Amino acid sequence: MHTTFRFVGVLLVVSACARPNPETQRALGETVYATYCQSCHEAPGTGPRLTPAILASRLNAARLYAYNLQQMPYEAGGVLSNEDYLNVTAWLLYRASLIESNKMLTMRNMDEVSLVAPDPSPTQ
Ligand code: HEC
Repeated sequence: MHTTFRFVGVLLVVSACARPNPETQRALGETVYATYCQSCHEAPGTGPRLTPAILASRLNAARLYAYNLQQMPYEAGGVLSNEDYLNVTAWLLYRASLIESNKMLTMRNMDEVSLVAPDPSPTQ
């Protein structure tokens, strides 16, 4: 019983590595965010809050990816792997409800992932 459980666990890990999917991409991206971005982008950090409207101002996922890659972490752009930048971009979009939850962000589709800003609130 215990062995079976371990066996299933190993299978899950192996299949997650072999076949990337939106959930694993987001999970990896969330870890990148927590490690390299959150300290500035959440209070009391000095960076701006990454709200849906702010993210959507990049217009599409490819531009947001390029910005992150070239500019972030602040004054240290490019220090992460392309994969990390892709995953963290996917996580930011998912958290902001700017990408369908069943969609995996890839180098090939990022140009077509348009970012549509949420309706402005009446007070803005
Ligand atoms: C040392 C602090 C710091 C870290 C770490 C950092 N940022 Fe930033 N970030 C900033 C600052 C400051 C700005 C505003 C830059 C500007 O306006 O030129 C910014 C801007 C941004 C923007 C654009 C926001 C806008 O107003 O359009 C995005 C997107 C972003 N960061 C994502 C990230 C991601 C993803 C990471 C992690 C890989 C990260 N940042 C790590 C400080 C940081």
